Amino acid sequence: MKKNNKNVTVIGHAIISTDCYIADSRGSMPSDLRSNSDWELFQEDLNHSDLVVIGRASYEKFSENRRNRLIPTSQINGYKMRDDLCFFNPNDISMSQILLKYNTFPNKIAVAGGQGVYQLVFDQFAYSEFHLSVKESYELKEGIQMIKGITELAQVDDYMNKYGMYQSDTIRLDSNTIQLKYLQS
Ligand SMILES: NC(=O)c1ccc[n+]([C@@H]2O[C@H](COP(=O)([O-])OP(=O)(O)OC[C@H]3O[C@@H](n4cnc5c(N)ncnc54)[C@H](OP(=O)(O)O)[C@@H]3O)[C@@H](O)[C@H]2O)c1
Repeated sequence: MKKNNKNVTVIGHAIISTDCYIADSRGSMPSDLRSNSDWELFQEDLNHSDLVVIGRASYEKFSENRRNRLIPTSQINGYKMRDDLCFFNPNDISMSQILLKYNTFPNKIAVAGGQGVYQLVFDQFAYSEFHLSVKESYELKEGIQMIKGITELAQVDDYMNKYGMYQSDTIRLDSNTIQLKYLQS
């Protein structure tokens, strides 16, 4: 995929309930929404990425992590870059623009969520792939949706299609988790 005239791979990662929630109504991830196999695949991709895009709330939970991270926030003007952290306000500087501030352009980017971050990449950039794990037979009914207003897998599929992404294959991760792989057409 070409962006900013650069070849870049952007992979989105999420694990959702069958009604498409990424977290419960307290903003936490219940243990039933986790899968060891999904976590291992997710960590493996992060280990092979130049940059991880992560929301400010999720960043605070894992702030001790030493990965190169790009964190959108509305609490600053412009951007602040230091060591392996870059905070930016997408209302002041777009995702395309912020990536050009890196001395070495990040060619492989992982998008860890949550909701506002997934949306930001759909709106201001693009995904090459989306790895969407689904916990079968597990509903949350309330909480934080992966995509605001979307509570059915068929709607997620339509949403992906709207952004030029199509389901390529489905793999079983464990007895109650499948992973849907979306690719950019
Ligand atoms: N199931 C999954 O795959 C998955 C994935 C990710 C997270 N989670 C879970 O979801 C929960 C948190 O989710 P969340 O969506 O509320 O939090 P989040 O994305 O981690 O962080 C939200 C914050 O990030 C900033 N932000 C995000 N998008 C922005 C944008 N477009 N422009 C400006 N700022 C932006 C804002 O920070 P400011 O308030 O500083 O403006 C916002 O309050 C946690 O429990 C986490 O573990 C689950």
